[in-house]
Formats: sequence, C-alpha cells, structure tokens
Amino acid sequence: MKRDRSWTWQPIAATRLDFTGLKIAVIGGTGGIGRALSRHLAAHGANVVVVGQTFRDSDLSGISFIKADLSLMQEARRVGASLPAETLDLVIFTTGIMAGPTREQTLDGIERDVAISYLSRFVMLNEIGPRLGKGRTEASTKPRVFVMGFPGSNQLGKPDDLNSETSYSRWTAHMNTVAGNEALVLDAAARYPQAAFFGLNPGFVKTGIRSNLFGPKMVLRIVEWMTGFMTSSPESYAERIAPLLISPDIEGHSGAMFNNKGEPILPSSKLTNRIVSKIMAASETLAARAKVQVAPFRLP
Ligand SMILES: NC(=O)c1ccc[n+]([C@@H]2O[C@H](COP(=O)([O-])OP(=O)(O)OC[C@H]3O[C@@H](n4cnc5c(N)ncnc54)[C@H](OP(=O)(O)O)[C@@H]3O)[C@@H](O)[C@H]2O)c1
Repeated sequence: MKRDRSWTWQPIAATRLDFTGLKIAVIGGTGGIGRALSRHLAAHGANVVVVGQTFRDSDLSGISFIKADLSLMQEARRVGASLPAETLDLVIFTTGIMAGPTREQTLDGIERDVAISYLSRFVMLNEIGPRLGKGRTEASTKPRVFVMGFPGSNQLGKPDDLNSETSYSRWTAHMNTVAGNEALVLDAAARYPQAAFFGLNPGFVKTGIRSNLFGPKMVLRIVEWMTGFMTSSPESYAERIAPLLISPDIEGHSGAMFNNKGEPILPSSKLTNRIVSKIMAASETLAARAKVQVAPFRLP
C-alpha cells in the first residue's frame, strides 16, 4: 500500500468543471455536506442519487432519492444491493451523526454512531465493491469511492470494543467511527483493485452534525459563532472539493487521504495493517449480529 504524499494534483478550472452524464451516488446526500455536494454535482451535469431519511431537493433536476434508515444494517444491505454499482462513476459516503451523552443502541444492538457513521458504509461497500466498474466500458478512470470522516488524525478507536459495550464515552464512540472509516479506505483499496478508494477529511464545516454536543441551541450558536473563523460552509467546501473528485491526477493513488483543501495528507501512521485487520474483523462480527455476512479479507 502506497502511503506517501509526495505528489500533488492540479485542480480543474471551475469553468471546465464538467460532470455531464456522470452517475454518482451520495450516501448521506440529503443533508449537510452530502447535500451541498449533491446539489453542486447535479448543477454541473451529474445524475445524482442521494440516500438518506428526508429528501429536501425534490424540486431539482438531476437528483433522485432512495429513502433508508441506515442505522439498520439490513437497510444498508438492501440499499447497497439496489444501487447500480456496475455503472456508477462515483460513490460518496457522507452519512453521519455524533454520539450522544449516553450510549444509544439501534434495533440491531449496535451503538448508534458506529452503526450510522461507519458500519452502514462497511455493509454497503461489501454489497457494491465486487460490482464496481463491471459495466463501465468506455470509462478512462476506475470508479471512485470517497469516504468522509476525519482521516489522518491518528485515531485508532477501540477495535476490541467497537460497539462500546465494555465502557462508553461519546468521544471514544465517535473515534471508533473515525478509525473505522479510515481503515475502510485502506482495506477497500486492497480488497477491490478494480475501483479506487479515497478518504476525505473536511475539517470543520458548519452543519447540524454537532447539534447534540453543547446542550441548548443558544449554547451551540455561541460556540459556532466563536469558532466561525475555523469553519467553512458546506457549499464552499463542496465547491473546493468537487474538482478533486474527477481529477485524472489522483488515478493510481487508491488509498490516499485528502484534507479540507483537497491536498493529499498522510494516512494515520498508527493505523497499521494489523490494526486495520482488527477493525475489519470486529466489523464483520458486528454486522453478523444484524445477520449480514461479510466475506473476510485481511491486509497482509
Ligand atoms: N461537519 C463537520 O464539521 C465534519 C467534520 C469532520 C467530519 N465530518 C464528517 O462528514 C460527514 C458529513 O457530516 P455533515 O456535517 O454533513 O453531517 P449532517 O449535516 O448531520 O448530515 C448527515 C447526513 O447523514 C444522514 N443520516 C443521518 N442519520 C441517518 C440515518 N439513520 N439513515 C440515513 N441517513 C442518515 C442525514 O440524512 P437525513 O437528514 O435525511 O436524516 C444527512 O444526509 C460525516 O461523516 C461526518 O462525520 C463532518
């Protein structure tokens, strides 16, 4: 696995940014960053299918909707199986929540943040991964999968307690999703060589994802006002990152991670192949709890 950042890519000028005819799935494309990306890509000619709970863009052309509660792994499996993975050019995972002050469990018995923000992606990738690219006869690049999280931050989570059953803290629970998503990119890059996988770290973007962090809405507003200089809007992040999604320069760099400016960053050095494999094994066990079988694969 190539783990370097000794390369750059040249953004395509906004005037030449053309997504015409591209087939894109945005898992979590109904809100926040995913929604801003979906709208931006559709406005530049893409056919976008968004997966989420509430469709907010039915008035726009170029965006269709699959409704799903991705806290449930059978739902993640169903949506993955129904996506036309063979012909998709891009898949972008942006589904996410932040863990609450006390442990919440889904109907599958899975900690809620891990289920929505990470394990649903693991299950969906298992469905679409083997089919990616199989029906794209004229494409000059491999199909691409972008996984949004917080890669490069050296978070390892707790692979021995991915489900926060031994102990619970909202921070640890969320870091299980951060480590899981970065591991997912590194694992999938080796598991599915016919496609390319990338991690996206958006930095701090002003969305509703932190709405349960600071208690009353007024406190959240004050914190967001105080940190406003550090955050960008979902629309400006979408505009900044869109050229990366189709750049020919990232071909051949499957497994790479990018920061909020779209610059390549190093994957977490502590996230060794051994730890990635531990996270994948723990994910298979958790998915099996929801009666979803995932074929084992281990990085060397
Ligand atoms: N915002 C940031 O500063 C930031 C920083 C670092 C990383 N990230 C990562 O970026 C990604 C996007 O975050 P965001 O800020 O855009 O979050 P957001 O505004 O809260 O949007 C989350 C998306 O997830 C969907 N979702 C949540 N629960 C779901 C469920 N049970 N079933 C199906 N869909 C569900 C929402 O759909 P509905 O609205 O339809 O339910 C929405 O489309 C996440 O992976 C997050 O961890 C964000």
